[in-house]
Amino acid sequence: MEGLLKVKNALVTGVTGQDGAYLTKYLLDKGYNVYGTYRRLSTPNFWRLRHLEIFEKLNLISCDLSDAGSIVEAIKISKPDEIYHMAAQSFVEASFETPVSTGDITGLSVTRILEALRQDGCNAKFYFAGTSEMFGETGPRTNERALNENDVFRPMSPYAAAKLYAYWITRIYREGYKMFTVNGILFNHESPLRGMEFVTRKIANEVAKIRVGLSRELKLGNLDAKRDWGYAPEYIEAIWLMLQNKVPKDFVIATGEAHSVREFVEKSFDVAKLNWQDYVKVDKRFLRPLDVPCLRGDYSLANRELGWKPKTKFIKLVEIMVKEEISRWERWLKGETFPWDAPNYPSEDRLLTRGHRM
Ligand code: NAP
Ligand code: GDD
Repeated sequence: MEGLLKVKNALVTGVTGQDGAYLTKYLLDKGYNVYGTYRRLSTPNFWRLRHLEIFEKLNLISCDLSDAGSIVEAIKISKPDEIYHMAAQSFVEASFETPVSTGDITGLSVTRILEALRQDGCNAKFYFAGTSEMFGETGPRTNERALNENDVFRPMSPYAAAKLYAYWITRIYREGYKMFTVNGILFNHESPLRGMEFVTRKIANEVAKIRVGLSRELKLGNLDAKRDWGYAPEYIEAIWLMLQNKVPKDFVIATGEAHSVREFVEKSFDVAKLNWQDYVKVDKRFLRPLDVPCLRGDYSLANRELGWKPKTKFIKLVEIMVKEEISRWERWLKGETFPWDAPNYPSEDRLLTRGHRM
């Protein structure tokens, strides 16, 4: 009886990010005691936790993924039943600028955590935030077929290579040490809490600024790339379900549809009742040395075994994101203040990238 009533402890790395914040809310709502790691920054970055009204409800632990001692400490403090490893250098473009630190933070950090768990004898279940980026080049060749758990990984970025290393380490600790470790292979998932540098949020934010008269153009890179975009809060449930599964197993989470960046642009301007061709310019600064042309996922295993399926598809997602952004800028123009990143986000106008030099 006592076992049934025990409150579970969850350790979530990267609670200041999109998924970490939504996941923390989801777990708190389920009655978990949540410990969240964040890293020290010169300017605190808790806007998502405040936006979701959970900042006061979780236990914060300072932890940097490059610092093994801080990971050991986070595990000691939280005594976790479940660990959700969400923290990473997660921006593909930035991984071309900082390939070594991306390898360390996004890849090696997983070994630091798993080794800490193994040495400690901690039985916590472990979730690793794997990604569709790992499929890389496999995407275009199977354009007509959605990718599943058995497809070959051919990474096309330092980020994807780092994630693939971590994916295998997660499997090696599962098979070698019989630990409950799983890889989620999540396709792109978006929301109004998405980081500003990612293309969907960048588009939604700029369209809204144009709509309210604060901007006149939107500069983008590769408009032909296709992605399988889902709604982040729904993907959080899939993550939790993976750790409740009887056996540790890897799952693809996706919508099953791929759309181009151009389509995302067109539909976003439609929501704002504007013509995209009047505002959009291609700027080579936003091109990457390599870019995965197309990613589309097959979530049928997750549907069969976890009972999970996506509810929010492409058009609805675009509407959610653009409408929220317009509402935020309208409220801001009226003088309202609320936890939100956009007004402080620096302009990309003087940004020098690998694309800039190509
Ligand atoms: P995100 O918004 O970029 O959040 C990343 C988190 O990692 C932030 O909390 C960030 O902290 C933290 N972090 C970065 N470097 C760190 C370091 N050196 N030490 C400690 N913490 C560090 O990413 P997300 O979209 O929520 O994605 C969550 C995870 O899922 C990531 O691992 C990502 O690679 C993976 N993933 C995401 C998607 C997607 O479409 N969203 C799809 C597949 C996989 P700061 O706030 O201080 O920067
Ligand atoms: N960011 C960005 N900015 N991307 C642009 C732009 C631009 O101005 N213009 C075109 N794109 C294209 C990129 O070249 C890419 O093909 C596509 O838009 C999506 O880019 P991002 O939104 O940056 O996402 P991503 O697909 O590279 O990576 C995201 O999804 C992965 C899962 O597949 C991230 O969340 C990764 O962390 C995640 O693993």
